[in-house]
Amino acid sequence: MVFVFLLVLLFDVVGCLDNGVALTPPMGWMQWERFRCNIDCKNDPENCISEKLVMDIADRMERDGYQDVGYTYISLDDCWMSEERDSDGSLQPDKDRFPHGIKYLADYVHSKGLKLGIYLDMGLKTCKGYPGSKFYIQRDVQSLQEWGVDMLKVDCCSGGSDLIKGYEVMGFFLNQTGRPIVFSCSYPACIGNQFSDYMGVAKLCNSWRNAIDITDSWDRVYQVMQFYVLNTHNFARYSGPGHWNDPDELIVGDYSLSDGEERSQFGMWAMFAAPLFMSVDLRNIKPSSRNLLLNKRVIAINQDPLGIQAQIMWQHAWTDQGMVSGWARPLVKKGSYAIAILNGSSYGMPAPINATLQDFGLTNQDGYNITDAFDGLSLGPHKLTQPILLKLPAHDTFLGTVVPL
Ligand code: GLA
Repeated sequence: MVFVFLLVLLFDVVGCLDNGVALTPPMGWMQWERFRCNIDCKNDPENCISEKLVMDIADRMERDGYQDVGYTYISLDDCWMSEERDSDGSLQPDKDRFPHGIKYLADYVHSKGLKLGIYLDMGLKTCKGYPGSKFYIQRDVQSLQEWGVDMLKVDCCSGGSDLIKGYEVMGFFLNQTGRPIVFSCSYPACIGNQFSDYMGVAKLCNSWRNAIDITDSWDRVYQVMQFYVLNTHNFARYSGPGHWNDPDELIVGDYSLSDGEERSQFGMWAMFAAPLFMSVDLRNIKPSSRNLLLNKRVIAINQDPLGIQAQIMWQHAWTDQGMVSGWARPLVKKGSYAIAILNGSSYGMPAPINATLQDFGLTNQDGYNITDAFDGLSLGPHKLTQPILLKLPAHDTFLGTVVPL
């Protein structure tokens, strides 16, 4: 106990995670939203959490172009473990579903130039009841190092009052590995609305969940966006190279979203400088969703090296069915911005948009060229006060890059 306390003190002095990774938001695939805790390989061998699923996804990421546009990490979530630690206290994967072990899986993923992510929990148990890392932090980080893991999501179900200290100890041991492991922390989301120490989490973690869990529903996606509208404790300010707010996985290509809603989630996640983790069956994804996920113009906005998260610039009602909002984020290219207009209203008739670049806080007197990031088409040069004329259907988003003339 004294030892751990000293380590925490030492980490406080050393300061922060020092791994040089996630200088732009990490991109990849994550198991949870789409595949959940499906451990029934007997009846559902294609979809259960297993080495086969990870290897299938790795093959798709390589073959179908995802890796080429930046998706790199393949991350297991809850339910990969055996229910018991082994005799020396180490975590072990479920032997039937991961017969060759995690190192084998990491080697396979690495052979394609991809990286492997894994999930732990800071409490006594994971959210689904598998062994937690409390009292085993050093041992578990050692396992990750031995296996060659590249990203770690640490959850916080059943975490106690010393939750954040546990993450600090974890950060200390991750630093000790010398291995660049992306450290994704869930404790802001577990603590909920009263969480305010964004400065602290940005020092300790490469990304952190702060909003509610995503599900396969537009309502939930929009609820997360509303959290970003509120921007409680000005959390947007703490996003930047090496440390990102994480609004949870992308559900593009799953069952529930319309084309416009998919554009909205992907486009707004790009504006939020969010980690882009697809949670979708890449073996069966429809072409339109795949093309969206591969859209290089949108990804370039997300991956802009300045790493400044978008802020809401204006918002007004469109009928009594909801709000239309305008967002902007500066881009690295001098004087350039990305702008988004999100129609959160459910009114059937498309919302007539006539916002001006001035409404987005832009100031270049000569005006700007606007390009639609989804289809690459130019909207032409616009003076500062010239309306951007659009008709935006319910739940759809306009996303544009804006370059000074
Ligand atoms: C929590 C997390 C999710 C997922 C599950 C796993 O709900 O927020 O992202 O990791 O646990 O059980």
